[in-house]
Amino acid sequence: MRKSPKWLDDTVFYEIYPQSFMDSNADGIGDFVGIISKLDYIKDLGCNAIWMNPCFCSPFGDAGYDVSDYYKAAPRYGTNEDLKLLFDEAHKRGIRVLLDLVPGHTSVEHKWFRESMKAEKNAYTDRYVWTDSVWNEPRGMGCIRGISDRDGCAVVNFFSNQPALNYGFYKSDYSWQQPVDAEGPKATKEELKNIMRFWLSLGCDGFRVDMAGSLVKNDPDSLGTIALWQDVRRFLDEEFPEAAMVSEWGEPDKSLLGGFHMDFLLHFGPSHYNDLFRCAEPFFSDRGKGDAHEFVLKYLESRKKAGSDGLICIPSGNHDMDRLSRSIHGDNLKIAFAFLLSMPGAPFIYYGDEIGLRYVENIKSVEGGFNRTGSRSPMQWDSTANSGFSSASPDMLYIPQDPSPDRPTAEKQMNDDSSLYSEVKRLIRVRREHPALLNRGEIEFVYAEKNAYPLSYIRSSGDEKILVIINPSAENAEFPYKHKPGAPVYLFGEKCSFKDGVITVPSRSAGFYLL
Ligand code: NOJ
Repeated sequence: MRKSPKWLDDTVFYEIYPQSFMDSNADGIGDFVGIISKLDYIKDLGCNAIWMNPCFCSPFGDAGYDVSDYYKAAPRYGTNEDLKLLFDEAHKRGIRVLLDLVPGHTSVEHKWFRESMKAEKNAYTDRYVWTDSVWNEPRGMGCIRGISDRDGCAVVNFFSNQPALNYGFYKSDYSWQQPVDAEGPKATKEELKNIMRFWLSLGCDGFRVDMAGSLVKNDPDSLGTIALWQDVRRFLDEEFPEAAMVSEWGEPDKSLLGGFHMDFLLHFGPSHYNDLFRCAEPFFSDRGKGDAHEFVLKYLESRKKAGSDGLICIPSGNHDMDRLSRSIHGDNLKIAFAFLLSMPGAPFIYYGDEIGLRYVENIKSVEGGFNRTGSRSPMQWDSTANSGFSSASPDMLYIPQDPSPDRPTAEKQMNDDSSLYSEVKRLIRVRREHPALLNRGEIEFVYAEKNAYPLSYIRSSGDEKILVIINPSAENAEFPYKHKPGAPVYLFGEKCSFKDGVITVPSRSAGFYLL
């Protein structure tokens, strides 16, 4: 059985987009020293782990997901020593740090790719996936062609400036498609382990792995990619058993089999995650026209596949999707967090979501962000210039901030017991106080009907059982339940009432009741 690090049992993650969190040197862009200065804020909120988006050398054609040197921190954020200091300072506060590992592709500027573009055979010739002629485009895959001395097309993994690293093909249809055990793919895998070894030895606590399911090509059931990660798992079990591995894969039956501890619910694909938050009629809305039913069905299916030890995490948002507050408003943001922070798996809070940081409309794409740019604007800390993010002139900021005069700030909300921040902090505290609500507690859905409200489930662990009842709509709702629930350990809005086997749930409320 897979050994999950114990520390994942009560972790609440905070995702930091390093460009936009805190600028310590007035250049308009966030940095490691800035993050260090805000660790106490993260701790005070109740989070005890960080996922930091890529922070390695990069031309930033995709905000750092186009790495040009895996072994060196991007100078805009600081040095490797600064990053080590960030690990140390986080650890002093009981906070773990996951780095973002991008194993599927590099930047075209990576020296490996430059070498692999050469006509002469060298150590990097097979580091990337190349066809055998510039006229021979890979079917069904994007490619880079006509810019190298080498005769061939380089397969891309995402944007056209992100050539795919070569981990081989599960099924080879052409001679240029190397098998997974060829020398080139084997060397790429060993280098991946070296990169992980390097950062884990320096003090990081694990990785969020970008596009983890994309590595082996022509691998319809992912058997080749699963085997690759199982090999990485053996290495981690031997050398770094405490390192946590979280995959951006969205198929827990595959990722967890590959040895990951947690998989994300994704905002694309079949998860129905965004039925709840980001669609024309989200479940978390006053209008009460949303539907949590499909989400629940898919969630239960994924949990079954994940097995007893595997975790599935539901993020509040991330750097790729619209801010939660773009489609969810007012009390419903609090109710959405009551859901997020009462579900199994380690919750992930995207920086700023705890204060309802807004999606910034109508701004120019920055560093390959496109429509994602509006969700990546600098954090708003206080009432000083640039909301305390940076002392640079506003036109130098990496991404413009929300221009509204009433933009939320952490400072204002920390001083207001009725703010979103205070509610999120309360919810994290309640979660920690109750093992049933924690990452590994069980879940059983009690009421999750099609196009109906409320949503209700029981979380349990050992002797503790908690009935969660969530009603975001502006109307009261009711559902059948056999027993009168006990005292609430958490309540937002009015308390539910019980009569003759029916629970009546007040509008815009969330409650966690002891059973
Ligand atoms: C997923 C990342 O979250 C996204 O930001 C990035 O653009 C792609 N993977 C490519 O690495």
